[in-house]
Amino acid sequence: MLLGRHIISPSDLTLGEISELCDAAEKMLADTAAFAGVCRGKILAALFFEPSTRTRLSFEAAMLRLGGSVLGFADSASSSAAKGESLADTVRTVSAYADIIAMRNPKEGAALLASRYSAVPVINAGDGGHHHPTQTLTDLLTIRSLKGGFSGHTVGLCGDLKFGRTVHSLAEALSRYPGNRFVLVSPKELAIPEYITQGVFAKTGTAFAECEKLEDVIGDLDILYMTRVQRERFFNEQDYVRLKDSYILDREKMKGAKPDMIVLHPLPRVNEIAPEVDSDARAAYFAQARYGMFTRMALIAKLTGVL
Ligand code: NCD
Repeated sequence: MLLGRHIISPSDLTLGEISELCDAAEKMLADTAAFAGVCRGKILAALFFEPSTRTRLSFEAAMLRLGGSVLGFADSASSSAAKGESLADTVRTVSAYADIIAMRNPKEGAALLASRYSAVPVINAGDGGHHHPTQTLTDLLTIRSLKGGFSGHTVGLCGDLKFGRTVHSLAEALSRYPGNRFVLVSPKELAIPEYITQGVFAKTGTAFAECEKLEDVIGDLDILYMTRVQRERFFNEQDYVRLKDSYILDREKMKGAKPDMIVLHPLPRVNEIAPEVDSDARAAYFAQARYGMFTRMALIAKLTGVL
């Protein structure tokens, strides 16, 4: 039963609930018009204290396609946070106006805190470098649709594995399914945190290897998940400049990949995938962005209890 629940990290959902959400999203994709009125009269508050294109707009589009309405802000400077209001007070107030809240905040743990003060479901749309569960549901739906299931994949995670919250959430989620193994490709300074290697991989017995060169391992992968170096989470610009172009996936590197490997990226991309790769049949990142809206439609419908 998903009605009324908060979604802060992917582990808030059972594997059965993940499948249920993916099934609902697929139905919505196949016949979007059939769901056009199910959220009529309901309001989504989109509270974005950090920049976003896809996540915010796909949440808004999702609610509008379900027949509901949307309010919120896209910039903390235009909210009372700029006057010094606490997150607890903002959320307490907004939860009196809306039926469901999607919130992005630069601070790790912000969504969890918000959920303690909210009278309506809070969906974490990204809390600092921590988690991003709706991106993970999107990634899982994409993987199930294009690779036939959630299990038995060799998954390359490449780029900024330290600050990339989508990576942390996806690694945690895929570790719950049997037979997945991870190849972690990053510069040493951007390696995945120990709370994932020790707290997730070791605990679930999930195999993983770490390396620095994508070319050496690309041929082993079923899924390659590219990520952007997270400039906004760096402490100094020099380190960012030095590391930002560590990995650039291009046509040449794609020659070494399996014919049925898929390339995912949560987007936005900066330089890490050359535009020449976009026309490769294995490039699935724009399809992935499209799945995101249907995933969020399914989640909103289930949490508000209309489905
Ligand atoms: C990601 C995010 O915000 O964490 N974007 C997204 O939600 N699709 C990835 C990123 O910003 O690099």
